[in-house]
Amino acid sequence: MKVKTLILGAGAAGMFCAAHAGDDVLVVDHSKTAGDKIRISGGGRCNFTHLETTAKNYLSQNPHFCKSALARYTPWDFVGLVSGYGIAWHEKTQGQLFCDNSAKEIIDMLRSEMDKAGAKLWLKTAVIDVTFDGQYRTRVTRDGQDMVIMSDNLVVATGGKSIPKMGATGIGYKIAEDFGIPVTQTRPALVPFTFSDARFAGVSGISAPVLARANDGPEFADALLCTHRGLSGPAMLQVSSYWHKGEEITINLIPSIDIVAHLKKARTDHPRKAVTTVLGSVLPSRLINHLAEDFALTDVCAQWSDKRIDDLATALRQWQVKPSGTEGYRTAEVTLGGVDTDYLSSKTMESKTHKGLYFIGECVDVTGWLGGYNFQWAWASAYAAGTAI
Ligand code: FDA
Repeated sequence: MKVKTLILGAGAAGMFCAAHAGDDVLVVDHSKTAGDKIRISGGGRCNFTHLETTAKNYLSQNPHFCKSALARYTPWDFVGLVSGYGIAWHEKTQGQLFCDNSAKEIIDMLRSEMDKAGAKLWLKTAVIDVTFDGQYRTRVTRDGQDMVIMSDNLVVATGGKSIPKMGATGIGYKIAEDFGIPVTQTRPALVPFTFSDARFAGVSGISAPVLARANDGPEFADALLCTHRGLSGPAMLQVSSYWHKGEEITINLIPSIDIVAHLKKARTDHPRKAVTTVLGSVLPSRLINHLAEDFALTDVCAQWSDKRIDDLATALRQWQVKPSGTEGYRTAEVTLGGVDTDYLSSKTMESKTHKGLYFIGECVDVTGWLGGYNFQWAWASAYAAGTAI
């Protein structure tokens, strides 16, 4: 069996690449259905892009690598495609675009684009390994039988290691290494934090808008959510991409409130009110009661000196917590790190050492923030490779 272009993985990147890679294209995937992660993304509505996508929204050893591809296939290009298919969408929070109805519409659109391009799709076809002897020889298992597919071009779009239950295998990294292409260190990202004790179990389900930061990473303004196992919510998922084991994260629990003025006013107006009650009007009161010991929230307002109020304000703005870990690949939305971009052309995603070998999507060391950036990278890198083939 021989094709001109074989694409490994029928996820976002693989399907989109197939629509642009010219004739004689075959896409293989071991899943029963194509685009499984698209289906569950964005709570079933697929946050398919972010209108303000820039290289700053990605983590990579080479922060400039993604620029070229992102510039040549922009969020508006994808919006044009989606709108052309009559798929209704809306902007949820600043720049984040979601389907009005169902993520399945995006999968159907990608399948139609593949059909239009004449690309074939083989599901339930697991990739075992790839070798090269003048052409790429990909060993697969299909219907319980081993077979080899030969191709002039090979596009690796097998994603990362996140959510093995959904078919993630990390085989793209192995293929890269088999061809002598290094893979940067990988770890789960956009993932909830865990704590060795069950300290947030009592307030599980409580959320609050916060500013959060890990390390020297950017500060994210979004919601924090307490869970049985620790801390989650978009702010924590964002921060997780910048966090390393053993480090603390810093959370501002009162990002939009002048808490000093608020407490001083309460001291004048309601001197006998407990400080926990006053704080309960600006933060979920269950959370305040839960944190009362950590922040020494005893006494009524009258007993709070200016200094004590100032110190509390600082403590609430710089609450430091040290997670024991994360929920790992089991729930991580993405894998940080991947195929070393130094070995790929930023214009075409082709390997600099092996002509005709391309890596696209999540398996490359380009990892987006939460908010549609990862799909935008999938589309842009797939377009770069597809149009280069
Ligand atoms: P993807 O993982 O989509 O596809 C890889 C394909 O390769 C899979 O179909 C897999 O079955 C196949 N494969 C793997 N190993 C194989 C093997 N050995 N043989 C054959 N096939 C193999 N991003 C975003 O921008 N907006 C969002 O709303 C969300 N939401 C979201 C929710 C959840 C729960 C998750 C887990 C992730 C997201 N993401 C997201 C991230 C987004 O889903 C992710 O970045 C893209 O799906 C990556 O696309 P790829 O095509 O690179 O990999």
